[in-house]
Amino acid sequence: MIANQLVFMSEEGKPVLPAAVDGQILVLGIETSCDETAAAVVARRADGSACLISSVVRAQWEHHRDFGGVVPEIAARAHAECLDEIIRMALSEAGASLADVDGVAAAAGPGLIGGLIVGLVSAKAIAMARQKPLIAVNHLEAHALTVGLTDGLPPPYLMLLVSGGHTQLLLVRDVGVYTRIATTIDDALGEAFDKTAKLLGLPQPGGPAVEECATTGNPTRFALPRPMLGRSEPHFSFAGLKTAVRHRAHEVAPLTNTDVADLCAGFQAAVLASVRDRCARGIDLAEQALGAKLGHFVAAGGVAANRTLRAGLTELAKKKGLAFHAPPLALCGDNAAMIAWAGAERLARGLVDPLDAPVRPRWPLDSEAPRVRGAGVKA
Ligand code: KG4
Ligand code: ZN
Repeated sequence: MIANQLVFMSEEGKPVLPAAVDGQILVLGIETSCDETAAAVVARRADGSACLISSVVRAQWEHHRDFGGVVPEIAARAHAECLDEIIRMALSEAGASLADVDGVAAAAGPGLIGGLIVGLVSAKAIAMARQKPLIAVNHLEAHALTVGLTDGLPPPYLMLLVSGGHTQLLLVRDVGVYTRIATTIDDALGEAFDKTAKLLGLPQPGGPAVEECATTGNPTRFALPRPMLGRSEPHFSFAGLKTAVRHRAHEVAPLTNTDVADLCAGFQAAVLASVRDRCARGIDLAEQALGAKLGHFVAAGGVAANRTLRAGLTELAKKKGLAFHAPPLALCGDNAAMIAWAGAERLARGLVDPLDAPVRPRWPLDSEAPRVRGAGVKA
């Protein structure tokens, strides 16, 4: 593993550009695939080590609050209104100008089409005006490679990707080479957290709200199912658990704060038991697919910020003889540092995109993965 320096600081404590060394590339990243507008600058040295120089994220939740979920048209307009400013902030925090960057990377999918267009078109405009290479990044690949930026961890490793739109186990064989080991047959885990929060009257995004509430709850008061436990195929399912929480909530309504805390704690405990069991199975299957023992197990995506889940997966990895990695909390959710880093990894391998690269609202990392019964477009 390579020791990475996340931010270079001047003596006054301000981030500064790392001294240019031979083969170092600087990439500007742009993220607009859902409801975070983000820009970041990272450096990648010739030895593959990384330096995160700046990262600016503006969440749009205020814009969507009254609607109880992300409204695609509102999200696209909000990205368009502030993206220029966010890019300027990221460059200024990095002490860099557009002339300094060696490539411009933007999330081109999967995600909401309007937001993706805003980010990718901005990247194309910069690339064209400044004669810089464009990298159209797969948002899932960016989550998958984040541990290269934060922990200097190169492939191969098995990754649990848990976000608002996806729940997958991916064998990361190399940059651009992925085998999907498992997926969800219904809701993504983040979606299950968000829907559970909504039915319990908690604010959105639901994951952090459920986690917070669960800290004071009794996880054993309500009997809740552990979906898919013991199944030989490693897939996930969360829709039934969410429905079970709804039934238990109706049984004890009107809900007191204690009821809500106990339901959150019970939900989280059931999630952990199910995810641990699915990952244990997935690790065995990934080792079969790789034909070798794995050394590292990684969690990434917004839900990987959940402390109970991180603790449970750390324990599981230890039991399986693997080292566990998850990005720091700020880099679990959507951000542009991961887009810039995935862009830098691709640029270093000569993998650049033409200026007519399309946005891809649906863009699986493993296009060869067999269809799983029940799994929809999120597979
Ligand atoms: O990766 P992400 O920021 O966006 C997508 O690509 O979807 O993930 C967002 C999801 C949301 O569903 C949010 O509720 C969930 O991640 N999330 C959490 C936590 N923080 C964010 N879920 C559980 N516990 C958390 N602490
Ligand atoms: Zn994401």
